[in-house]
Amino acid sequence: MKEELNILIQAQYPLIYLVTSEEERAEQAISTIAQVLRPQRRVYVWTVTHGIVEYGQPRANPHNTVSPEAAIDWVMRQKEPGIFIFKDLHPFIDAAATTRSLRDAIASFKGTQKNIILMSPMQQVPIELEKEVVVLDFQLPDMSELNKVLTQHLDQNRGRRLTTEAREKLLRAALGLTKDEAEKVYRKAQVTTGRLTEEEVDIVLSEKKQLIRRNGILEYIEEDETIDAVGGLEELKKWLKQRSNAFTERAREYGLPQPKGMLILGVPGCGKSLIAKTTSRLWGLPLLRLDMGRVYDGSMVGRSEANLRNALKTAESISPAILFIDELDKSFAGSAGSGDSDGGTSSRIFGSFLTWMQEKKSPVFVMATANRVERLPGEFLRKGRFDEIFFVDLPTPEERSDIFKIHLNKRREEISRFDLEQLAKMSDGFSGAEIEQALVAAMYEAFAQDREFTQLDIIAALKATLPLSRTMQEQVTALRDWARQRARPAAASVAEYQRMEF
Ligand SMILES: Nc1ncnc2c1ncn2[C@@H]1O[C@H](COP(=O)(O)OP(=O)(O)OP(=O)(O)O)[C@@H](O)[C@H]1O
Ligand SMILES: [Mg+2]
Repeated sequence: MKEELNILIQAQYPLIYLVTSEEERAEQAISTIAQVLRPQRRVYVWTVTHGIVEYGQPRANPHNTVSPEAAIDWVMRQKEPGIFIFKDLHPFIDAAATTRSLRDAIASFKGTQKNIILMSPMQQVPIELEKEVVVLDFQLPDMSELNKVLTQHLDQNRGRRLTTEAREKLLRAALGLTKDEAEKVYRKAQVTTGRLTEEEVDIVLSEKKQLIRRNGILEYIEEDETIDAVGGLEELKKWLKQRSNAFTERAREYGLPQPKGMLILGVPGCGKSLIAKTTSRLWGLPLLRLDMGRVYDGSMVGRSEANLRNALKTAESISPAILFIDELDKSFAGSAGSGDSDGGTSSRIFGSFLTWMQEKKSPVFVMATANRVERLPGEFLRKGRFDEIFFVDLPTPEERSDIFKIHLNKRREEISRFDLEQLAKMSDGFSGAEIEQALVAAMYEAFAQDREFTQLDIIAALKATLPLSRTMQEQVTALRDWARQRARPAAASVAEYQRMEF
């Protein structure tokens, strides 16, 4: 990242947009680059409060450069090579005079060694400048930078020496945080228990979850259920279990590629979301849900893209991790058809997401679910985008029996009084969610009569339910026909699955 910035500066890119909320760290990085350049460059920083000030010098504003145009004009008149950082110019950048001055300035830089760096936590580029600017994300601190933070913290607090492993755990736990945040989190752990050791990793982690929650687009999901809480779907489970150690060093040494992601298509209520969530425990990786609804932000041009980039960047910095996108069909619906209802934002977002998936090297496993396949842009289904596309169908009789068993076991210690086979037979066409609902309905019925619920209560509840597969028979049949040809069945065997009819 620093290299990239270095190259852009040396290659005389006149206008660089650096997206970051870590001003101090970014300024330091730029100043380091400026010092090793030949000839050395001076670094100036503009803010709306102080105008232009030389980096590291006392704040005086001799140049009268508080207004953006005056500042840009001053930059243009400088003869010496220099790097000119504009902090938070984004609220002004859409003004005609600012945009124009910037364009004039860039044009005048030809053959000089001057660059303007726009530094701001959000990306906002007016159309007039789109062709002139390179946008660069300032990466969050990596392990070695965090190591410096940790070492400094330990030195200051005369902390005890850490084993290499403990140190690595503490560093990993802080990945994805800014430098300031990492410092705060270590301090908090220290204050809470009076020390900072391996034992405090959980404190650091839970702080990180808080911070990620605050970012609002990614959500840290904690799931208590294990994969055994999912009934049936044996093929899918087997696939997942086989890849339990896919993100280890050992798998890389063995020559295995990193899994990219999977798409789970299927009938509503059959366990798609459940299996995605339990995979996190199975693999021992954090589960981050990307809420596409929150990515979209019509308040400002470019805001949605910036949101998505931020979220993906955070996910990468925490990797290895699972990025969970539930109901992908809804997220990208706008880009499938005519798509221009929102000025092309959703197709741009979709494009950036696909590009990211294509190019990502970091171990972020994308786990997506969808049920309205016809609304899904075809690009998602192309071979190679995901490692595998599974279809989760309505459960077979064996699977239904399994699901009854799981949900009964969750609620009662002793379940031998229930005839699972009969229940499975009576619940033909039911989804897992509907089975669970019928069970709960039966329990309510018996509870209201102040008695224990029985097989008959469940049967009565099943009879009183009209499953979705019947009320929406056409849609479900269409989905099954479609998916059978394109996706791999998640259930035990294809034969079993084809036997089913309703
Ligand atoms: N195969 C299953 N085994 C056990 N429980 C199940 C199964 N399928 C569904 N359930 C129950 O139904 C609930 C809802 O299922 P889930 O949210 O995973 O369905 P989904 O396939 O994601 O549906 P949708 O398409 O509507 O999002 C689960 O939390 C679980 O309690
Ligand atoms: Mg779901």
